[in-house]
Amino acid sequence: MIISLTGFMGCGKSSVGRELSRLLCCPFMDLDSVIEEREGRKIPEIFATEGEAAFRRMEAEALRKCIYGQASDKLVVALGGGTVMTEECAKIVHEKTVCIYLRASVETLMDHLAGEVDNRPMLAGNLRTRIEELMSIRSATYEKTAHIMIDTNGKTIDEIAREISIKGLFI
Ligand code: S3P
Repeated sequence: MIISLTGFMGCGKSSVGRELSRLLCCPFMDLDSVIEEREGRKIPEIFATEGEAAFRRMEAEALRKCIYGQASDKLVVALGGGTVMTEECAKIVHEKTVCIYLRASVETLMDHLAGEVDNRPMLAGNLRTRIEELMSIRSATYEKTAHIMIDTNGKTIDEIAREISIKGLFI
């Protein structure tokens, strides 16, 4: 079984994924890190030199490798915030994983993303405006792709990971 985490940048996919994998005693993969390792470059550099479309192709390739190439019987994968916006990726995630949407309010995201914007080329410009713009485009896709939705506002990483393991009957 593969458990994937989706949701907007800053919602806690990587931290929650790491904690969930600890609770479930299984491996953890962070799709952004997989891409960076394979490319030998950081994501902002990939965006700056090759653009978003090239990044999305790398992301889809990394996702295919991660989903179809996994050997362990249980795996937790933190997706990038835009992964499921690529139709092929959304289909793979929906069909081949149990997908958890970590939903967070604009205020929570603003808090988490303060100081993190330089690492996230999709957020260039006014932070609140970019979050609102992208959220209005993406939220329906997060909801439709995921099987379980968790409201993360005001909760700690531990609480969210525990809630996922209970709601998903993973323990
Ligand atoms: C992106 C989210 C980032 C990373 C890239 C694009 C997006 O991942 O994949 O900067 O389009 O939402 P995180 O959600 O882990 O920040």
